[in-house]
Amino acid sequence: MKYLIGIDVGTSATKTVLFDELGTVIASASREYPLYQPQNGWAEQNPEDWRNAVLATVSEVVEKSAAEKEDILGIGISGQMHGLVMLDEKGEVIRPSIIWCDQRTGAEVEEMLNLMPRERWIAITANPPLTGWTAAKILWVRRHEPENYARCKHILLPKDYIRYILTGVFATEVSDASGMQLLDVPGRCWSQEVLDALSIDRDLLGTVYESCQVTGSLLPEIASKTGLSTKTIVVGGAGDNAAAAVGTGIVRDGTAFTTIGTSGVVFAHTSKVSIDPKGRVHTCCCAVPGAWHIMGVTQGAGLSLKWFKDEFCQDYLARAEKEGCDVYDLINADVSEIPAGSNRLIYLPYLMGERTPHLDPDCRGVFFGLSAIHTKKHLLRAVMEGVSYSLCDCNEILKEMGVEVTQMMACGGGGKSPVWRQMLATLYHCPVKTVKQDEGPALGVAILAGVGCGLYPDIETACDRILSEKSHTEPAKELMAVYDAYHQLYQKLYRSLKEDYKALALL
Ligand code: XUL
Repeated sequence: MKYLIGIDVGTSATKTVLFDELGTVIASASREYPLYQPQNGWAEQNPEDWRNAVLATVSEVVEKSAAEKEDILGIGISGQMHGLVMLDEKGEVIRPSIIWCDQRTGAEVEEMLNLMPRERWIAITANPPLTGWTAAKILWVRRHEPENYARCKHILLPKDYIRYILTGVFATEVSDASGMQLLDVPGRCWSQEVLDALSIDRDLLGTVYESCQVTGSLLPEIASKTGLSTKTIVVGGAGDNAAAAVGTGIVRDGTAFTTIGTSGVVFAHTSKVSIDPKGRVHTCCCAVPGAWHIMGVTQGAGLSLKWFKDEFCQDYLARAEKEGCDVYDLINADVSEIPAGSNRLIYLPYLMGERTPHLDPDCRGVFFGLSAIHTKKHLLRAVMEGVSYSLCDCNEILKEMGVEVTQMMACGGGGKSPVWRQMLATLYHCPVKTVKQDEGPALGVAILAGVGCGLYPDIETACDRILSEKSHTEPAKELMAVYDAYHQLYQKLYRSLKEDYKALALL
């Protein structure tokens, strides 16, 4: 039997899983780390925390399994997209990474629009300039921390920093590089036109690979530290959403998934480049060579529920500890007692601004309709519903673009909640399914590694061999009209508050 490792450098934790060639989980390990918010709307993490978490979890899965190191053929790395990692000439981290949900770059986005017309940005990078994407962050550091910019010799994405740690190679791959706003997305290579417009030196960027291409193998000191072989290869891997797509079998036209992790994403595979002229959803290269995906993003999806739980649910946390169960199971059980609509309570999940459909870094969260009748359970349900309304906004734009979706899967931590899946199915007016193999991005990049080392002929065949359906949730027909009405009011609330958010940001 041969083995593969998938690493997912997430926002709340890194998860590493060792699979056998049939996709069975042999061992898994995870390590959490902090998210720093030095100012309202800012978000940073320490790349050294990711590195430590990766090395610890890889060592742990290798130690837990009985696999011979020569049989562990390949590693795939996936991770949070858009984060900016800057290294000096010695390969040392210069400053904390400004991560995907950071919203500090409003002025830099304006600057980018002055340097090149919006239509040209969309034609080349398939997206308008976006506050959370890497290019605007590079400009921010150059303007506000010129001494750091002057020392910078390498610009990497979070998972590509891990590749550098594991292999010593400076490289990236098309799916994650699409989220830097420096890539020619239709052409799948760096755009010299964009780099010239932004005066960014091409030498700062790594080589761009396809996701299943081999980018290097383990450095001797890493192999000995983790118990692996120097023959173990590392493939391009993928951004977390493109990786989750492979891990849930979203590799052909007509298929899509919704993931609820820290962010929420509605993602559809497409074999042709298809761009929303309004820029409300992103078009990126996907992990399948020669294909792309369209995705809408909710900034604060699982993040909203985690925030509410951490700040206001000490009672739930204590009960979970006492009963030895998962706190989210307790929350799900209580939320299912509350009627759809949370008794006229609506939550807007804009804790970190919003991307789809508003592209607004200044909007913030709201509970609308609070009454003395409401309990904590109502607020919890409203949070889950607010995230679902936002994901429904994403799904509606895909429909508006004419993207045909015949299969909608759910994944991520939130995708495991039957209550959340029921909300999504009812709001989308279509069934929502899950697969038995629920490791999402980690499995996706392990599959890519398997293709890279010749264990599988191609991604589609590997998915067909490994994945099987687990659950199927039909829309609750009797609640469709109720949820449609709530969703319409939810959409109106942003329109009503739009100018007030700007005023709030200036206070
Ligand atoms: C996608 C996005 C997030 C991050 C973090 O554009 O920003 O999904 O990848 O998970």
